[in-house]
Amino acid sequence: MKSFIILSLAALLIIIFTLNLGAYNMAATEKHWAITEKIITWVRESSIEVRAKDLEVPTIDETDILLIGAEHYNAMCTICHLAPGRKPTELATGLYPQAPVFHERTPVTDAEEKLHSTKEYFWVIKNGIKMTAMPAWGPTHDDESIWAMAAFVHRLHGMNDKQYEAIVETDHHGHHH
Ligand code: HEC
Repeated sequence: MKSFIILSLAALLIIIFTLNLGAYNMAATEKHWAITEKIITWVRESSIEVRAKDLEVPTIDETDILLIGAEHYNAMCTICHLAPGRKPTELATGLYPQAPVFHERTPVTDAEEKLHSTKEYFWVIKNGIKMTAMPAWGPTHDDESIWAMAAFVHRLHGMNDKQYEAIVETDHHGHHH
């Protein structure tokens, strides 16, 4: 028992010493090992699921989704998450972890699953994700706008450039719905 503790402490000291020498490469261009990536993904997904599952999804107005949701998305999110028909930005190209491209995702048809992931989208948009480029929008936006953005992110799944431009165009020309 005693020698086990001494060995563990010695190992810990060696690790601290090595890290102190700058052994770990923090570069965004240096990818994680597959196992590290699996662990991070597992921790992130469990963390978000637990915190999102008891949220109450309010009734989200169609006009709010298309005006508030789309307008905020177009103004604040496309630099990282891109948009249908738009060229990848230089900023998005250099991100690690990469921001997901929502319009390349398959539309969710199952109502239960959609509800579940709307809550998770809401939670992430409101709170952000630590040690990634994903900011928290909660400090600057009310819940109503964030629900509209979460719902719009769903609308983006599978959206093409014509549909996207039509929605953001309408926003620019004074909300004629
Ligand atoms: C500066 C870059 C950046 C901006 C701006 C940004 N995001 Fe993100 N976002 C990220 C990154 C990077 C991730 C992935 C983090 C990870 O892998 O853990 C992410 C993750 C997410 C997720 C979780 C994705 C999933 O797989 O469930 C959602 C939802 C999201 N962002 C929505 C938004 C919305 C909506 C906006 C605009 C209001 C926005 N983001 C603005 C970088 C950004």
